[in-house]
Amino acid sequence: MKAEMKNILVTGAVGQIGSELTMALRKKYGADNVVATGRKTEPSQELLDSGPFYFIDVTERASLDVVIKKHNIDTIYHMAAILSAVGEKHPHLCWDVNMNGSINVLDAAIDYNMTRVIIPSSIAAFGPDTPIENTPNDTILRPTTMYGVTKVCGERLGDYFVQKFGIDVRGLRYPGIISAETLPGGGTTDYAVEIYYKAVEDGKYTCFVSEDTRLPMMYMPDCIDATIDLAEADFAKLKHHCDFNLASMSFSAGELAASIKKYIPDFEVKYDPDYRQEIADSWPSSIDDSVARQEWGWKPEWNLDKMTKDMLEKLRKRHREGRLYKK
Ligand code: SER
Repeated sequence: MKAEMKNILVTGAVGQIGSELTMALRKKYGADNVVATGRKTEPSQELLDSGPFYFIDVTERASLDVVIKKHNIDTIYHMAAILSAVGEKHPHLCWDVNMNGSINVLDAAIDYNMTRVIIPSSIAAFGPDTPIENTPNDTILRPTTMYGVTKVCGERLGDYFVQKFGIDVRGLRYPGIISAETLPGGGTTDYAVEIYYKAVEDGKYTCFVSEDTRLPMMYMPDCIDATIDLAEADFAKLKHHCDFNLASMSFSAGELAASIKKYIPDFEVKYDPDYRQEIADSWPSSIDDSVARQEWGWKPEWNLDKMTKDMLEKLRKRHREGRLYKK
């Protein structure tokens, strides 16, 4: 096993997290050393102009191999996935992309003697039987969504590759991620992003989960820091590998709306729960991330009001410039 991360591949680089992660990695490791890949969605000009980009399909091993060989890839951040809401509508697609994509990436890591693979998991790995408050790291994993099923399998698969083949695989369970750059695509926690856009655009929002729905959330800068910090952690200090709980803040949809109202007093929110309510209800309200804190020094920086201020500043500026929704 090599030790250095020199040539990095990001799958899902056009997605909500992948797009900002790619830019952060390019800044840190050099633009030409971070190869971005996506499946269908056109990448932003920023992503295209700042370094290499390819269209690949992670479910087809050959398309992955072309890019790995061409750029002598030694590290993969595997961000490509179908999220929870889309996963419930298209369970086979969710299984195919999330499971076959992950095993292709892990097989490639063996075949090309890679340094490291990062495969994220999610709070969706938990289910209704899991303790709902301050959910421990090592607890009951009985998800009731296809997305959650693939995330538990992905965690176990990654750990299996660590034990069986000595590959360095790491992963963390993201809470709902909030960001102002790329919109999330098809998750249950998407309301926590949409609400900011609609507050700025229309001054009103109809939320698809109930006012008292409380979920763990995180602002993108913390998410990027956590991902890179875990990737750079000393392997010898890790007792866990692919299943680190990660927390920053927890709030209800009503508390989120109240935080926006501090800056936009006339903001109106209605609640009209749909099929995603059941998914949200199956997930924890708050997370105990003490294992991540102990094993690799995780510490979040953002809270709800600080995030709201930053989100609204960014989105209001873009709205004034006529480009609230980025292309
Ligand atoms: N944000 C994701 C979703 O809602 C959870 O990982 O699907």
